[in-house]
Amino acid sequence: MKRILVTGANGQIGSELVTYLRLLYGDQEVIASDITLENCSSPMEVLDVLDHEKFRNICESYQVDTLIHLAAILSVNAEKNPQLAWDVNMQGLLNGLEIAKEFNLQFFSPSSIGVFSHESPKDKTPQLTTMRPTTMYGISKLSGELLCDYYYQVFGVDTRSVRFPGLISSVTPPGGGTTDYAVEIYYAAIKDGHYTCPIKEDTYLDMMYMGDALKLIVDLMESDSSLLSDRNAYNVSAMSVCPKMIAESIQKYIPDFTISYEIDPLKQSIAESWPNSIDVSIAQKDWHFNCQYDLDNLTKHMLASLQK
Ligand code: NAD
Ligand code: SER
Repeated sequence: MKRILVTGANGQIGSELVTYLRLLYGDQEVIASDITLENCSSPMEVLDVLDHEKFRNICESYQVDTLIHLAAILSVNAEKNPQLAWDVNMQGLLNGLEIAKEFNLQFFSPSSIGVFSHESPKDKTPQLTTMRPTTMYGISKLSGELLCDYYYQVFGVDTRSVRFPGLISSVTPPGGGTTDYAVEIYYAAIKDGHYTCPIKEDTYLDMMYMGDALKLIVDLMESDSSLLSDRNAYNVSAMSVCPKMIAESIQKYIPDFTISYEIDPLKQSIAESWPNSIDVSIAQKDWHFNCQYDLDNLTKHMLASLQK
């Protein structure tokens, strides 16, 4: 990667990834873009990824060699507006892939644990298994994986991806996903000392700290292509946790912290359709994927940075 365009750069991942990439590759080599500019810093462009011509022109004028495509609608918002989710997650992705094909760009667009379903094995879910997602988000993410593989196999576009679990971070709040509770709980712990959780206390999902997610994106993109036995997409995760475990971890640092539960039926049903834990052994073997942060480490860092 030498010059990189990031779409969806204002979001939970993009807002930290742009800073991280600029430290590694240089400020002028990482172009941030989003549908509105909000907190982006220069170089930056307003870009609706559904505007193919503008998308293409930005890639051409900056002469980028890498496209990190983050613009998407997350799981809960996708259920509330399935048509928008299909348009952004599929047509936006297709526009990015066409541009990557035209300019021979390396291409990364994250998939999600949302590609799995009730029909998938619940524990240590293999990378390749029964999928059959039942949410618009999962359907678009799985279709997106297949589309990225198609562009690799048929057109030789260097597409790479991972299935992110819920990402926990302290810079930009998440944008309408099922795993948002795992971020909100830390904000609430600092602000109110109490969190009302929309997910049952014993619902397990995979999670990862943002610091590990940023590093793995670069590790995967800089890996020798001959090491990759799969492209779209690798299972990755740092931990399988339930709300009760996160609350107990917070109580180690804030003993008075309390949690109660008011279950949100939509969030709970999506969460229950996703695995308890996924098998990450192929990513470990192919490109030495690993994570630095376990739950207590993550809690320590989240609370310290939110307190600041
Ligand atoms: P987010 O919702 O925080 O950010 C998405 C960004 O996309 C927003 O800033 C939004 O303004 C932008 N966007 C929406 N429509 C757009 C359009 N038409 N044109 C341009 N920009 C548009 O999401 P995120 O958490 O940063 O996720 C980024 C990617 O990572 C998504 O593909 C998501 O599915 C994937 N992912 C995220 C997580 C997670 O826990 N955050 C987990 C798994 C996968
Ligand atoms: N955090 C994302 C969501 O809940 C997982 O893909 O939608």
